[in-house]
Amino acid sequence: MFKYLVLTSIFSSLIFGQNPENNSFNLMPYPAKITAGNGFYIIDTSFTIEISNFSNNRLEKYSSRILRRISGKTGMFFKQDYVSAKNKVENPALKIAVKREGFLKDYEDESYRLIITNNSITIESETDLGAFRGLETLFQLIVSDASGNKFPVVDIEDEPRFTWRGLMIDVCRHFMPLEMILRNIDAMAMVKLNVLHLHLSEDQGWRIESKIFPKLQELGSDGLYFTQEEIKYIVNYAGDRGIRVVPEIDIPGHSSALLTAYPELGSGPGPYKIDRTWGIKTPTLNPTNTKTYEFLDKLFGELTPLFPDAYFHIGGDEVKDTEWKNNPEINEYMKANGISDYHELQAYFNGRVLNILQKYGKTLVGWDEILHDNMPKNSVIHSWRGIKALMKAVREGYKAILSNGYYIDLNQSTVFHYKNDPLPEGNDLTKEEKKRVLGGEATMWAELVTNENVDSRIWPRTAAIAERLWSPQSISDVRNMYERLGKISLLLEESGVKHIKNYDMMLRRLMSSHEVSTLKVLVDVVQPLKEYARHRTGPKLTSFSPYTRIVDIATADPEFARGFNFLCEDYNNSKNKELIPLINNYLNLWRDNHALFLQISENRPVIRDGRTHSLNLKRLAENGLELTIMIEKGEKVSSQKIKVIEQLIELSKKESAQCELAVITGFEFLLNSVKK
Ligand code: ACM
Repeated sequence: MFKYLVLTSIFSSLIFGQNPENNSFNLMPYPAKITAGNGFYIIDTSFTIEISNFSNNRLEKYSSRILRRISGKTGMFFKQDYVSAKNKVENPALKIAVKREGFLKDYEDESYRLIITNNSITIESETDLGAFRGLETLFQLIVSDASGNKFPVVDIEDEPRFTWRGLMIDVCRHFMPLEMILRNIDAMAMVKLNVLHLHLSEDQGWRIESKIFPKLQELGSDGLYFTQEEIKYIVNYAGDRGIRVVPEIDIPGHSSALLTAYPELGSGPGPYKIDRTWGIKTPTLNPTNTKTYEFLDKLFGELTPLFPDAYFHIGGDEVKDTEWKNNPEINEYMKANGISDYHELQAYFNGRVLNILQKYGKTLVGWDEILHDNMPKNSVIHSWRGIKALMKAVREGYKAILSNGYYIDLNQSTVFHYKNDPLPEGNDLTKEEKKRVLGGEATMWAELVTNENVDSRIWPRTAAIAERLWSPQSISDVRNMYERLGKISLLLEESGVKHIKNYDMMLRRLMSSHEVSTLKVLVDVVQPLKEYARHRTGPKLTSFSPYTRIVDIATADPEFARGFNFLCEDYNNSKNKELIPLINNYLNLWRDNHALFLQISENRPVIRDGRTHSLNLKRLAENGLELTIMIEKGEKVSSQKIKVIEQLIELSKKESAQCELAVITGFEFLLNSVKK
């Protein structure tokens, strides 16, 4: 443990130095404009907050929470209790001046100005939402050193690049309890995300209470669903943090759970059952049955008032036509009504659903597949299949949201997501079309996660997505992003999400011990297979499989592995021999760990599948140490040796335990450095 911290901090100061020329504040998302001054505002126990202009309940609550968070972070005993416009304070440290209440809608003003001088702090904004964003920036700016706790003197003018900065949580594949949603809302607020999209219905579960159709939750949820009271609580909790909640009821496909309860609405003969497996399923609502629309009308009449947001998401993705093809009545209906194919049948269905939603004052959002000539232009296309689909939608006059490239369930690297831009450079959209690109949304599909490890798939990578959606496009330095990400990750943990704390807990479970260091050395440098590869290897996974193994603890783009990869990259670029001892620290650790790993795995069958990566890591480390010795001695590495290492690297790229080794790039750089 100690070794790790030393390694990481040496690494940070060496690579990033004391004074990186840009983006030097520990902020994420990075502000649009920041002017650094000299000196600091020193926080003392007289620190108080005053709301000096417009006020409302949620601004008072937000300000009070920030006050407590600063107190908690610094351990200082502040005198002020609850921040309220009614309670005047003498010489406030922080003055918040807001002009009006903000609305939770597209293009609302979330800008703010934060000015910190040696003896005052002010946040000015048009709306209370802007103040919330500014308060989070202020909190991230706290630094502590020998002189105390303080904020740097800065002048920040900030506003979002995109109006829709979302996180979708699939609460269906694995149900996520209320507490998970709430802690993630707090983390979202910290990085200025403003849309929570709840994916509430699936083949694997119906997750929202209906009082009119109680069989939905009685037969379709295994008892795991949100009551209407809980939904109201979520909506209020999010609203208090300037976050919209957009519900999704995914129809006409993805409907096994719904049809388990109401099989008469299906396109097939039934009976239906809750699906326990992963993949695209066939149960589909019958779009030619009047009863389907009567049902949806009543259901949406009941559910839409729970969600004040203007938008209602109807899914519409991955509709299999199997049941439609096999149903003669559906085909006769299509013929009689001039519906020429199944995509048009879905469009017909969407048109009727749209009429229902319009009656309830809602604007329709759907995945790519809903795009069809008959969709009114105020619908929103949610693009999961590619940026091209998004471009097509906005050219045709629709608003659109990008999720392709933000699938955080697929274990891609942070930089992969960071470089994914809803409005990529060089696009040829007009100004009006650009404006219709509302933004983007990270999607947390929940096949392979439970409440225990889900936060480690969302965070910290989603903070980098949040930056892509908030900050100017020019904020794009990858190393700098990673440096800030490491720090924000800790702040996110403080805010309540469990991506770090559950990591150790899950290691302890497998070890049945506090002593996890040997297992951790390995898990720190492996990552779960990317994209959908895990479904093609290892045991078949279902909703009741254990998600507690090495692959479930390992995270995408692990920080510790990245530290090694960057060091080797830097050595390859600079040939700076001062880096060699730092590289050796990693290599020694890995070389020596394998024997220990064999010992601990002897009596713990659950971790034995880690042996292959552990062995490969040891071999790579041994060979790496041979290289660094030769580098230090200035000896030439033989072509034979290079070949051996190349083969070992190829071998080590193979998946094992549904994981891949995350330090391959480092070894490739190290090897490359001796080739020339
Ligand atoms: C999706 O991933 N089917 C929206």
